[in-house]
Amino acid sequence: MSAIVIYESLTGNTRRAAATIADELVAGGVGVEAVCPVTAIDYGALARAELVVFGTWVDGLILFGQRPGGRVRRVPAMAGKQAAAFCTYAVDPGHTLAKMDLLLADRGAEPLGGFAINRRKLVDGSKEFVDRLLGVVQA
Ligand SMILES: Cc1cc2nc3c(=O)[nH]c(=O)nc-3n(C[C@H](O)[C@H](O)[C@H](O)COP(=O)(O)O)c2cc1C
Repeated sequence: MSAIVIYESLTGNTRRAAATIADELVAGGVGVEAVCPVTAIDYGALARAELVVFGTWVDGLILFGQRPGGRVRRVPAMAGKQAAAFCTYAVDPGHTLAKMDLLLADRGAEPLGGFAINRRKLVDGSKEFVDRLLGVVQA
């Protein structure tokens, strides 16, 4: 299984989570082709990856109107690939993951579901996400 981790990060939390997620995937036997921001995607790595892990931060009015933050519309086409979303948040992610799944499906991916990581628990949350992901991903 090969994967790429793509992230959108404003203040660094999601970038740090993406790095931990990549490390955990490697520890779990997944070949990570690249970890890149959504503004600088390694398209060769994306082409080789069977699994796309996409993360962003939660934007909203803290308890209302939450959505994937930043330049998420730049998420590329990924027809036929499995994809998993994660977001980092402060208080409440709302429906951000469901919106990310719609975005991934719009790009042709098969969404596997997602995981919300509290910004105060970036490492533990990233590890739990990968544990769950490895349980559902098709080898
Ligand atoms: C403009 C703005 C709006 C935000 N809105 C929410 C929100 O509605 N709910 C929430 O739980 N966190 C909210 N946050 C917190 C961020 O989602 C959180 O700090 C996240 O980890 C930031 O990720 P980053 O460091 O990768 O940019 C908001 C942050 C910003 C800058």
